[in-house]
Amino acid sequence: MDFDKVIKERRSVRKFKKKRPDWRDILDAIEAARYAPSAGNLHAVKFILVDNPEIIADLAEAADQDFILDAHYVIVVCSDPTQVERSYYERGERYVRQQSGAAIENFLLKLTDLGLGSCWVGAFVDDHVKKALRIPEKVAVEAIIPIGYSADISKRSKKPDEDSFFYFNKYGAKFLKPRRVVEER
Ligand SMILES: Cc1cc2nc3c(=O)[nH]c(=O)nc-3n(C[C@H](O)[C@H](O)[C@H](O)COP(=O)(O)O)c2cc1C
Repeated sequence: MDFDKVIKERRSVRKFKKKRPDWRDILDAIEAARYAPSAGNLHAVKFILVDNPEIIADLAEAADQDFILDAHYVIVVCSDPTQVERSYYERGERYVRQQSGAAIENFLLKLTDLGLGSCWVGAFVDDHVKKALRIPEKVAVEAIIPIGYSADISKRSKKPDEDSFFYFNKYGAKFLKPRRVVEER
């Protein structure tokens, strides 16, 4: 799919068809996540692929979000901050959050490119998820991502206006609109 189309096509999908995705597509999306930037090139982010229906049901309960039950596959993204915090001290926590987000976005975009729907779920009881997947104490749970073919016909979410998203030179300065200049290379 064209790059701009992938970015604009991605949306949160909260209804899935019964058809089971090919797990190799999910591995391709994990590969895309692996290429995300990371502070100091330290690798804190971990992906757990879950296909066991009982564990998926447990994750849906941990998040109290029933649509997760309909996913054949769920990815749980975690992060181990040990190395990053050793290098960057208290800033490490921020870096781990940010590189997790970068990896998650790569993952979601590649799923979109492959025709799969997903949703970034961030609301859950951490300890419940950790228990379900035997995640060690020091490892944080970043996101639960149910995956499937979309059956979601709800309206697309509204995105911020350019004016309130993009400033020029100074925070809040929006009197100049971005000029679309096409240069010949
Ligand atoms: C950090 C984060 C946490 C989120 N948590 C949830 C969640 O718990 N449940 C849910 O249905 N969607 C969740 N979302 C998805 C947002 O609701 C969604 O991205 C937003 O409404 C914009 O819609 P779009 O993804 O279709 O563009 C989360 C998104 C982010 C980035």
